[in-house]
Amino acid sequence: MELQGKNALVTGAAGGIGSAILRGLIEAGATVIACDRDAAALDRLVAECGPACVPMLADLGDSAALQTRIAEVLAQVGTIDILVNNAGILSPNKLAGTTLEEWHRLMAINLDAALLLVQAVVPGMKAKAWGRIINIASYAWKSGGLTAGTGYSVSKAALVGLTYSAARELTATGITSNAIAPAYVVSPMIMEQLSQADRDRQLAAIPVGRFCEPEEVAHAVRFLAAPLAGFMTGTVIDMNGGLQFG
Ligand SMILES: NC(=O)c1ccc[n+]([C@@H]2O[C@H](COP(=O)([O-])OP(=O)(O)OC[C@H]3O[C@@H](n4cnc5c(N)ncnc54)[C@H](O)[C@@H]3O)[C@@H](O)[C@H]2O)c1
Repeated sequence: MELQGKNALVTGAAGGIGSAILRGLIEAGATVIACDRDAAALDRLVAECGPACVPMLADLGDSAALQTRIAEVLAQVGTIDILVNNAGILSPNKLAGTTLEEWHRLMAINLDAALLLVQAVVPGMKAKAWGRIINIASYAWKSGGLTAGTGYSVSKAALVGLTYSAARELTATGITSNAIAPAYVVSPMIMEQLSQADRDRQLAAIPVGRFCEPEEVAHAVRFLAAPLAGFMTGTVIDMNGGLQFG
């Protein structure tokens, strides 16, 4: 129960990876604010997890509404000690197929929301001289996107940039900022949005011979959130089954 007494906020908490992260942090003793736009799924999570799960219904693509909503949540729970920017949307569209409208939507959800939440929670973390910012990027940030499109890959590279920038600025404050870069995690994003042919091809290319499980990403989040991870900041944990070393 290394996170007893800590408040965590997980975005995209109703998704495949987000719900595993939520369960892992609750198991470690944290109270978790579960942020998602899917009201029914949030209800199910609260029914499953009880009072350790506090629902936060929000559309991360609506910046103004998000700022209002996070201010309400902070007034309700006080400080957020652990922020996990996990929510994300995928697009397979490459250069020619990327409209500016889609680009802005990808950036709003995958990047802008992370910035707004970091801005909102950092003052409380600073006051306690303790905090954890954990951003769920993607292998696409450095592969350029195998099946993922241009806007998605760029949004994840920018999220890594935000991770480094926040780490640099916050180094002496007791707040760490790190990212996790998974590839091909078993979740609706991969199982429903990729074609069978794409999945088969990627599976054959992954040296460990399988996709990543959401619980493995949750384990890395729990590791980064732990009090003993305080010397680790400005890093990206790769979880790509050996697709790329270093
Ligand atoms: N699944 C993978 O293979 C994989 C690989 C690398 C990185 N990632 C990243 O991991 C994160 C989680 O992905 P996942 O596979 O669990 O996806 P998922 O689609 O299962 O879950 C995403 C969750 O985010 C929520 N969400 C989406 N848009 C939202 C919005 N505008 N406002 C509020 N909530 C919103 C959805 O409702 C959903 O619950 C994403 O950032 C994704 O890019 C996933």
